[in-house]
Amino acid sequence: MSIRREPFGKAEKCTIHQGDLEVSVLTYGATIQAIRYQGIDVALGYDSLEEYRNYGAYLGATVGRYANRIGGGKFTLNGVEYDVGCNEEGRGHLHGGRIGLDKKLWTVREQRENSICLAVSLADGEEGYPGNMELTVTFSVEENALKIVYDAVSDKDTVFNPTNHCYFNLNGIGGGRVENHLLTVHADAFTPVDEWLLPTGELRPVTGTPFDFTVSKAIGAEVEAEEEQIRLGGGYDHNFVLRGEGYRSAAVAVSPETGIRMECFTDLPGLQLYTGNFLEQPTGKAGPIGKRRGFCFETQFFPDSPNRPEFPSCTLRAGKRFASTTVYRFERK
Ligand code: BGC
Repeated sequence: MSIRREPFGKAEKCTIHQGDLEVSVLTYGATIQAIRYQGIDVALGYDSLEEYRNYGAYLGATVGRYANRIGGGKFTLNGVEYDVGCNEEGRGHLHGGRIGLDKKLWTVREQRENSICLAVSLADGEEGYPGNMELTVTFSVEENALKIVYDAVSDKDTVFNPTNHCYFNLNGIGGGRVENHLLTVHADAFTPVDEWLLPTGELRPVTGTPFDFTVSKAIGAEVEAEEEQIRLGGGYDHNFVLRGEGYRSAAVAVSPETGIRMECFTDLPGLQLYTGNFLEQPTGKAGPIGKRRGFCFETQFFPDSPNRPEFPSCTLRAGKRFASTTVYRFERK
């Protein structure tokens, strides 16, 4: 077990390590910059702060206050309409707005041998959201698992839905596209989207659709299928309705090339499977990052929940503590 801290432009890079797993986290955006498992880097990222600022794509970032989309950039809470703005080509609110959690400089609140806790304060009205908020994200490595714990409190009723936007490539980041990965997602339904990638409100059974990952299937098997939802997402860019409640296994990914298996656990109701359909970054740690060079398992409340009372509620009441845990556990066959 060890921790290493070094400058990363005007930010800092903190590397925690235990056993076969080493994880680097930046104070910029509380961003996972690298995950090395048995020496293989499986997380897309950049080598410098400038590249994070210039090329973005939320690689490894903590995103929020509301991860994914809020339709029309507006929602109503306690009878008050809040305007969080449209940072996505004028049509929708994505990942917390113009200056979301991913673009904040976080401070190191606490460090232990195998964990680092980052903190940020958000002002009432920032990016249009209600409530002064104190937020921490703790990253720890233990028994070949990366554990991410979100903890937050707001002084006003608000909506809250943080996630991590790590793009994984279990072939290794220099190892080509991810279509060969075998996925299992513990979900019997998904939330279909409209042309703006906003949920229509329907919970559609996965049976008989390209979204059926109840039995292990390659990402590439149907990612280009002639199917309306696949066409709208340009591949998979959809929220899955996870089976069960409470902390549980959400999904598994395996690279047949390296034998690396990653299992994702969460206590949240949804999982966004995003297959890097829009990736086109001119640089990256292992060279340019093209389409499908990584996939995300974003644990979350369903997209646009603030406008969908029929979805599980993402409302955080004033003074109540928000706590949520996501784990990515690695092994190799
Ligand atoms: C969204 C995509 C979006 C991407 C941006 C994902 O979480 O679902 O639609 O393009 O983030 O990097």
